[in-house]
Amino acid sequence: MEAYLLDWISLLLRWLHVIAGIVWIGASFYFVALDNSLEPPNPPKKGVLGENWSIHGGGFYHKQKYVVAPERLPEHLHWFKWEAYWTWLSGFALFVVVYYVHAESMLIDRSVADIAPSTAILASLGLIVAGWLTYDLLCRSPLGDHDGALAAVGFALIALAAWGCAQLFGGRGAYLQVGVMVGTIMVANVAMVIIPGQRRMVEAMRAGRTPDPKYGRWGKQRSIHNNYVTLPVVFIMLCGHYPMTYGHPHAWAVLVAVFAIGGVVRHYFNRRNAGHTIRWLPAAAVAMVLALAVLVMPRVPDGAGGPTSFSDVERVVALRCQSCHAATPTQPGFVQPPGGIMLDTAERIGLLAQKIHQQAVLAKVMPPGNLTGITDDERAIIADWYRQGAPGR
Ligand code: HEC
Repeated sequence: MEAYLLDWISLLLRWLHVIAGIVWIGASFYFVALDNSLEPPNPPKKGVLGENWSIHGGGFYHKQKYVVAPERLPEHLHWFKWEAYWTWLSGFALFVVVYYVHAESMLIDRSVADIAPSTAILASLGLIVAGWLTYDLLCRSPLGDHDGALAAVGFALIALAAWGCAQLFGGRGAYLQVGVMVGTIMVANVAMVIIPGQRRMVEAMRAGRTPDPKYGRWGKQRSIHNNYVTLPVVFIMLCGHYPMTYGHPHAWAVLVAVFAIGGVVRHYFNRRNAGHTIRWLPAAAVAMVLALAVLVMPRVPDGAGGPTSFSDVERVVALRCQSCHAATPTQPGFVQPPGGIMLDTAERIGLLAQKIHQQAVLAKVMPPGNLTGITDDERAIIADWYRQGAPGR
């Protein structure tokens, strides 16, 4: 019952998270694109930095951006913040339900670090807070005035976080941990810098003063940072289905490459919106993806080489997989076979041979966190069986 309830909570949170994320990312991409596509107002208008004419959904729109602020504050001002807050709230809750509640299998991998669930959860929370504090301090330090240097240091810190998390958690847990750390920085940028700065600007105007332009500048800087990490964060949300990424022996380096690729792609679009198409950037991104795909291609491990009987495979699967992958799992916390995968009859094992091989031999991500303690010899039995064409009984 409890596990069934958790499944529903997890499903609803996931749904909400994706929807809120689409709204947030959509709005922020839109504003970055709008900013980059502004043209001088025609005819020139005092206080207006640029304007943009668009057509959408059967209507014409005319947007104008003011230098700092308009002379008079309009009665209704639309703020953009709840889409960011809901994305974080739903995402963090989902992280708790999936990765903290099942820390044993989802966050921890005893072959990486033999830590207790409570230790893993505390470390995860500590890292999330530390990530934001470090980043925020850097932006406020003198380095914050040098966008290029700040970006380089920020990228190095992401690499350090990816490497560090890989020393603490299992592959999938480490990826999600980095995702939550970066996602938290993104939403904290909105909650702690962008929105408070905008509030100060509005307050100043209400009091009849000219708002300090530094708030606008700071907000813009954080918003651009968010823009450059969006694609990798979405990648982390999705790649749980692809063990060649998080299951790779150097999974952290794969993630760093993804951050680089995502940044290159965003840079291309940001420059293009501003009227400077850098043609080689998309080619560079494609080349990087191809190189990555070749580099992480799993090598089929040498099996024991001996003849394998199907009953050996059945024995390994029964011992190491069936507690979860059966119509009624016996593993606490599982009410249904995860991913809909059932490995409880000889026929199903035969049909799913390719997937079993991929998950347990190539990527070695099953069993999660090696909860059921599969041995290398047992993986080799599956490898040999698969190499021989996965003969059935
Ligand atoms: C502790 C429970 C548990 C054990 C034991 C376990 N798995 Fe899994 N398995 C999972 C979970 C959780 C998923 C992920 C479902 C998802 O991504 O939604 C999964 C997914 C899978 C998938 C589907 C992956 C995909 O994305 O298509 C396969 C195949 C699989 N496991 C094979 C195995 C094999 C083979 C073993 C034994 C060597 C095994 N599992 C042991 C929990 C388990």
